[in-house]
Amino acid sequence: MSRTFLLGVDIGTSGTKAVLYTPEGETVAEAARRYPMTQPHGGWAEQHPSFWWDAVCACLRELTARPEAENGEILSLGLSGQMHGSVLLDGEGIPTGPAILWCDTRVQAECAEIEDIFGGEMLTAVTGSRALCNFTAPKLMWMRRHTPDALRRAKILLMPKDYIRFCLTGKYAAEPSDACGTLLYDTRNFCWSDELCRGMEIDPALLPPLVASAEVVGTVTPAAAAATGLPVGIPVVGGAGDNAASAVGVGAVTPGRAFVTVGTSGNVYTHTDRFAADAEGRFHTFCSAVPGEWTFLGAVQSAGLNLRWFRETCCGSLDADAAARGMDPYVLLDEEASAWQAGGGGLFYLPYLLGERTPHLDPNARGCFIGLRPDHDRGAMARAVMEGVSFALADCKGLFDACGVEVKEITFCGGGGKSALWRQIMADVFVRPIARPRSGESAALGAALLGAVGIGLYPDIPSACTAVCTAENSTVPQNAAAYARIYRVWKTLYPALKASFAAAAALSE
Ligand code: XUL
Repeated sequence: MSRTFLLGVDIGTSGTKAVLYTPEGETVAEAARRYPMTQPHGGWAEQHPSFWWDAVCACLRELTARPEAENGEILSLGLSGQMHGSVLLDGEGIPTGPAILWCDTRVQAECAEIEDIFGGEMLTAVTGSRALCNFTAPKLMWMRRHTPDALRRAKILLMPKDYIRFCLTGKYAAEPSDACGTLLYDTRNFCWSDELCRGMEIDPALLPPLVASAEVVGTVTPAAAAATGLPVGIPVVGGAGDNAASAVGVGAVTPGRAFVTVGTSGNVYTHTDRFAADAEGRFHTFCSAVPGEWTFLGAVQSAGLNLRWFRETCCGSLDADAAARGMDPYVLLDEEASAWQAGGGGLFYLPYLLGERTPHLDPNARGCFIGLRPDHDRGAMARAVMEGVSFALADCKGLFDACGVEVKEITFCGGGGKSALWRQIMADVFVRPIARPRSGESAALGAALLGAVGIGLYPDIPSACTAVCTAENSTVPQNAAAYARIYRVWKTLYPALKASFAAAAALSE
């Protein structure tokens, strides 16, 4: 008898991952491809949608040729992806240029304009967020000024994973968990907003039809089958933005369930069944993949990126030292960082390499080590980096607490969660047990489960999560009191430096 599989594909910022699962959520095979981010000017971040499609095709060709996939039937395909990127297609479905990504900060003037048009109160009440560079609408306004031809030729606006769904099925669609990141969507009422489009003079005809995350949108076309190696006809569902998909992959789809991610960026995410928004817009209220429900998302612009930057820029001999001991360089950094006490002897790190979103909403903020002494080695600095990122994530949770949404259980996803030391720091800083997700690729698993629900394998998203998403051994707090003291000092640093960050940014203009 042939075996059956679920396929989940996550179109991330640094690369794409495709994973084949059993219907019970066991990983059968996975493939990944990386791609660059183009940064033609400081603060800019672009990717051409063809990078993603090429990567998806390469991953799927590899997966479908793997012996594990032989004689198997792929029942469904779900997609997850980086949010907010502006994919504009012409009448032939061809991208009119590169997508401006979520981490691009060029549109500050357009954000100020949007705030002037609507006011912060209206924006948070309708969209759940304030006008930030990350979102899509200000990118379109920027294009109107600077690349009008690319906007004039555009017939449809898609999010990155929605573009890949279009390549696979020929169907245009958006779903709530990603649409809410455009700033053109009424997050409270789950529909595109004419009022927002009118105010920003954005043609509502650009906006695709809305579907649910676990709804079948189309099937793999013969052309897509030829490009990917997939059989024709596999049902493809709406899918979800990366965080909403990860929430499904870790089972954070009921109130009180939360996860933190440390990938390139970082997030604290919790599920809620009531709409509420932070009036200052310091965190985002987004739509969940679960129909009619929401999520709070605190977004840390650079999380794992800090440790990668530190490793690549400041750790000259680390790779050679690790190779000499037959170790992964990050495992060696963990070992060296573990030799230091909490707080690394008075060393602090602010992780704002790309400015900060939650809670400071400050694109001028920058990374810094504070408190360096001659005896601080790379272990002390690596520990300070992990602690600084953990504190930045704890800042996000503090805002949810203030909104009356209690976070009870936390799963730690992303590359950072592989570090035992980082898990311990996170448990101590959050004062909660920290679980590891069942799958290392939570977004791909979540996307695959949305596919499974779409074809009726599970009756709804929470049932699929109950059946599949088991968390693994929790790390419990051990040093919470010490970290509470260190966090209190760390929290004084950004306010002390805020004006200097602004002055430094003015110097580098
Ligand atoms: C959320 C956000 C991230 C990106 C990058 O607002 O910007 O989830 O999708 O992962």
